[in-house]
Amino acid sequence: MKRPLAMIVGTGHAVPKRILTNHDFAALGIDTNDEWITERTGIKQRYIAGDGESLTSLSSEAARAAMKAAGVTAPELDVIVLATASPDRLLPSTAVEVQATIGATRAAAFDIDAACTGWVYGVKIAEGLMAMGDAETVLVIGAETLSRIVNWKDRNTCVLFGDGAGATVLKRSTKGRGILSAYMRSDGSLADLLQRPAGGSLRPVTPEVIAEGSNCITMAGREVFKNAVRSMAEASDRALDGAKLASSDIDLMIPHQANIRIIEATAKHAGMPMEKVYVNVDRYGNTSAASIPIALDEALRAGRIKEGMTVMFVGFGAGFTWGSLVVRF
Ligand code: COA
Repeated sequence: MKRPLAMIVGTGHAVPKRILTNHDFAALGIDTNDEWITERTGIKQRYIAGDGESLTSLSSEAARAAMKAAGVTAPELDVIVLATASPDRLLPSTAVEVQATIGATRAAAFDIDAACTGWVYGVKIAEGLMAMGDAETVLVIGAETLSRIVNWKDRNTCVLFGDGAGATVLKRSTKGRGILSAYMRSDGSLADLLQRPAGGSLRPVTPEVIAEGSNCITMAGREVFKNAVRSMAEASDRALDGAKLASSDIDLMIPHQANIRIIEATAKHAGMPMEKVYVNVDRYGNTSAASIPIALDEALRAGRIKEGMTVMFVGFGAGFTWGSLVVRF
């Protein structure tokens, strides 16, 4: 495949109305505080979906903004790829609900789950479909309503995550702009370190499951931290190798927004000064598959990315999964 073949031509994002700050946890009876959360994670607030808000509604709002920015109408979409670990329903996919909601009458639609790396995987799938000649216009969404699957009694996890959706429209590359390299990896031998143990078909929801909270996210924080730092370092190396570029050629790095310390370690390894690293984890928390596309949309709309600039995306998530992209805008 000759690159660049596919480019990102429009982005959008959406978040729920309700903001939950670090100070708000006390009122929820959770034994934590702003100082602990800020020091360990860099997170100050996150968005939490309320009544009437769903993965479908957030994804559809983000999709409409991305289509508007791209100058594309819903019937022009050939494929919708929705990356999520918190679908509205386990069957059917949330992607088909988005397809119906936005009126993408010609589109094939499906969900993928690569946890926080989902949007990176989704972009690579979109590029592959375009390379095969099966699609001209693809909508890739990363979206989560993690607040609905975290254990609100577990302070180790409930302070970390947030809800939101980011959407991107991809079309054929022109003028040498587009995806210069893409890398994806996984290691399922470490699946238990960050998981949702029950609620799937292996262990369906029962009163016992609910009582023990095993239908919610569980995490071995320190192990996840170490693996995130190692894997994101490798992903940034592979992204640069694949594009035959040095870190000095990268104008902006957009890493997965899990934790400021993981972001700083990744930037240090990649040789990227923090001024060239996009950070919004303070305002969104970890929105998993939505984190990179939300950050990308913000960066574009704020003028941090201009035509001709080269951006590196680096993701890591449950699985473990990790991956990276280098894109010329
Ligand atoms: N508020 C206050 N104290 C908390 C707390 C909270 N929200 N959560 C945990 N603690 C306590 C622990 O109970 C522990 O207390 P103890 O020593 O009395 O047992 C103490 O803080 C230290 O916990 P520890 O797990 O060692 O902290 P840490 O420095 O490793 O930080 C994380 C915890 C979760 C912030 C960190 O491990 C991390 O960021 N991991 C990666 C998480 C992640 O990004 N996951 C998604 C990847 S895509």
